[in-house]
Amino acid sequence: MSQQVQLVNYYFLILSLFFFINYLGTNSSPLFSTCPWRNCGNVNIGYPFWLRNETTSDQHYCGYRGFGLTCLNDEKTVLALPAGDRYYVKAIDYSDYTLTLVDFDATNQSCPRVRHNVTLGELPLKFSLLDLNLSFYFNCTTYPPLVPYIECLGFDARRSYVFVEGNETEGFDWSENCEDKVVVAVMNAVINIGNLISGFAREMNDGFVLDWVRAKDCSTCENSGGYCGYNDTAKEFLCFCNDGSTRSNSCKGMLSSSF
Ligand SMILES: *[C@@H]1O[C@H](CO)[C@@H](O)[C@H](O)[C@H]1NC(C)=O
Ligand SMILES: *[C@@H]1O[C@H](CO)[C@@H](O)[C@H](O)[C@H]1NC(C)=O
Ligand SMILES: *[C@@H]1O[C@H](CO)[C@@H](O)[C@H](O)[C@H]1NC(C)=O
Ligand SMILES: *[C@@H]1O[C@H](CO)[C@@H](O)[C@H](O)[C@H]1NC(C)=O
Ligand SMILES: *[C@@H]1O[C@H](CO)[C@@H](O)[C@H](O)[C@H]1NC(C)=O
Ligand SMILES: *[C@@H]1O[C@H](CO)[C@@H](O)[C@H](O)[C@H]1NC(C)=O
Ligand SMILES: *[C@@H]1O[C@H](CO)[C@@H](O)[C@H](O)[C@H]1NC(C)=O
Repeated sequence: MSQQVQLVNYYFLILSLFFFINYLGTNSSPLFSTCPWRNCGNVNIGYPFWLRNETTSDQHYCGYRGFGLTCLNDEKTVLALPAGDRYYVKAIDYSDYTLTLVDFDATNQSCPRVRHNVTLGELPLKFSLLDLNLSFYFNCTTYPPLVPYIECLGFDARRSYVFVEGNETEGFDWSENCEDKVVVAVMNAVINIGNLISGFAREMNDGFVLDWVRAKDCSTCENSGGYCGYNDTAKEFLCFCNDGSTRSNSCKGMLSSSF
């Protein structure tokens, strides 16, 4: 028994040594001058995300296209989704591949009027199972009586409403009777379904979660141990390899390794 425990201990020692050496190895490789970790406020930015540099003209980066982040005033991390809509990045979790976003329009507002649906386009992002959608209907000219409405978004006799998507009052065509409809994601766990009207502002400020997956055009490079990038000047795909070389799509065939 105790011999077994000792064996397991040795195994862990060797394993940690291996990872430590590997860590030193990769850390000192030229890769990290091309794919450096950055910081913005309390958000760590690393592959497949990257920090946009507005001041330099050589536009190449290590990371996924569309995953470039901007650092506002050295403290707020911002992601622009394909339609150009901007979201604050509240957190990035590299161990479970998630990021938490808050709509600019919903940040620290007591009565936010959201303007756009969350549009992920072709980005390798997916809504998390932690999310729930809310449907907003703004400036409704006709409405059923007795349905609670958002008082702070009223305008003359027009009213605005919010529902869990798919749970709108039955038998009434909201889209038909309202000026605008916007669907946003929130975290299921923070939602108080019984009192959306008074809670939605706070709940939206908590943000929603997206999962990222491997970018399609990246798998060859990543499978070969590389990191995807792009040269915006030359408009060409880049694959950054651990030996410091930059290839056009794969690191296969390289000689060096961490041993
Ligand atoms: C942007 O590029 C310039 C010039 O290469 C560099 O001095 C600066 O540190 C970079 N800024 C960021 C945020 O990477
Ligand atoms: C929202 O308010 C909190 C608390 O005052 C503050 O820390 C945070 O920076 C604000 N966020 C934005 C995006 O202004
Ligand atoms: C929320 O809406 C998006 C976009 O229409 C959809 O892809 C997603 O599955 C919806 N989420 C839920 C929980 O219904
Ligand atoms: C309702 O319409 C009025 C007049 O066009 C506009 O000023 C107001 O912002 C709208 N309200 C909402 C919540 O969209
Ligand atoms: C749907 O709405 C009803 C009342 O309108 C509410 O009692 C119920 O909890 C809602 N369900 C969901 C899943 O939001
Ligand atoms: C948001 O998406 C809904 C469908 O889910 C659509 O009916 C609505 O027009 C969209 N709103 C905007 C502002 O694009
Ligand atoms: C990007 O392309 C430009 C123009 O072809 C070239 O000068 C530059 O060295 C390239 N940068 C990288 C990192 O490949």
